[in-house]
Amino acid sequence: MPSAMRRLDQLLSSLGYCSRSEARGWVKAGAVTVRGEEADDAGARVHAADVRVDGEPLDHPDGLLLLLHKPLGLVCSHDGREGPSVYSLLPERWRRRNPIVTSIGRLDKETSGLLLLTDQSPLVHRLTSPKHKVPKLYRATLDRDLSADLVPLFAAGTLQLEGEREPCAPAELRIVAPREAELVLTEGKYHQVRRMFAAAGGATVLTLHREQFGPLTLGDLPAGQWRELPLDIFGK
Ligand code: URA
Repeated sequence: MPSAMRRLDQLLSSLGYCSRSEARGWVKAGAVTVRGEEADDAGARVHAADVRVDGEPLDHPDGLLLLLHKPLGLVCSHDGREGPSVYSLLPERWRRRNPIVTSIGRLDKETSGLLLLTDQSPLVHRLTSPKHKVPKLYRATLDRDLSADLVPLFAAGTLQLEGEREPCAPAELRIVAPREAELVLTEGKYHQVRRMFAAAGGATVLTLHREQFGPLTLGDLPAGQWRELPLDIFGK
């Protein structure tokens, strides 16, 4: 289905190319074509697919969905005061898009692994809502040996974290070594993995890595790199 027609200046600014007023300058300078003809009106309504800037088609006019291997040490925040952010890994132009590119849920600064980024807000809502029960697989190492009693405790859906109204939803714990575990959560409360282990026996999580989000895995994607996903990978 062709995308809706939009004002040329609005389209260029929403895709992070330039401000709306700069778009007028680009049009005047002959940098923009529509259906092969030099554009002469920045306010004209156009289909994104018909537009070229310096001869190039527009950059992802229909939206972005990215799978990032989040490295340690970066925050999932647009607020520069919180420190270096995952968004610094993206091309400049994508960081100026509106709607903004944002993470689907968050990983802590000291958590690595699979993080999805998108400018599609319905997708953010769908994939972060506990109602949809999207499984997320984490691998954690801990500061002490794990008790097998944690397995039924996490599975019961009764573990209460301080400050939360509802107990944690049932979660699948697999103890893979005395101090290492895999944990599958279907929700995303603040610092949930760390708080669950702390609440259920006082263990401190030393390292935390998200290996899987729904059906998606990192494969051999190196830390700090991302790859694009089809916008409809989770269905329409
Ligand atoms: N649980 C945590 O404690 N931290 C994360 O980053 C993700 C899940």
